[in-house]
Amino acid sequence: MPKLTYYGHSAFRIRDNQHTILVDPFLTGNPLCPIKPDEVTACDYILLTHGHGDHFGDTAELAQRLGSTVIATHELAVWCNEQGLKAHGMAVGGAYDFPFGRVKAITALHGTGGATLPDGKELPSNSPVGFLITWGKTKSIYHAGDTGLFSDMKLVCENGPLDVALIPIGDNYTMGVDDAARAAEWVEANLYIPMHYNTFDVIKTDPLEFAFKVEKLGRRCKVMKPGEEIEV
Ligand code: NI
Ligand code: MN
Repeated sequence: MPKLTYYGHSAFRIRDNQHTILVDPFLTGNPLCPIKPDEVTACDYILLTHGHGDHFGDTAELAQRLGSTVIATHELAVWCNEQGLKAHGMAVGGAYDFPFGRVKAITALHGTGGATLPDGKELPSNSPVGFLITWGKTKSIYHAGDTGLFSDMKLVCENGPLDVALIPIGDNYTMGVDDAARAAEWVEANLYIPMHYNTFDVIKTDPLEFAFKVEKLGRRCKVMKPGEEIEV
């Protein structure tokens, strides 16, 4: 069974005995993240939902040091290749089988800009995505990325309820609590985990409000503490 660790914001680790992946590893500069990048000792793949700084985060350093392959949309993947990193490009609607499982790139409605990194390098403009990760053919985890609400989200669970849905709730840059609750209604999952909130003042949000709305739907919500690990 895979284990899921939350690092604050939209950063997660998923691992089992064989594989470790990170999604949006924004560790340095993330006030909620309990670990430093050099404490990450294994990472086979880094999934990037888009090229904003609060998602790209420590990708370059981690991928370089740990030999991780970056999975991202084509434009970001090409840029990573140019930096000497291993990368696998995808685009919305496409899926691919990796050693840890299948990854499908899902639409996300959000900005397309690329961050300027601390070393002055600029990431290219890119399409934001979410990811449907089917871990080892058994467990399904939807990381919605940064997105506003859109009704095609209903299609993410068309093959049956998901195991876990990671939903942004912080408002301003993504869905707020009300739209996130609507997303939870549309994307059937056994467990909902809120993300992308309380990292910065502008996205200060009470996750218990989201939890309350999810539970009113008769579904389960878990507000993960940064550093906490759960079994999926
Ligand atoms: Ni963003
Ligand atoms: Mn963001």
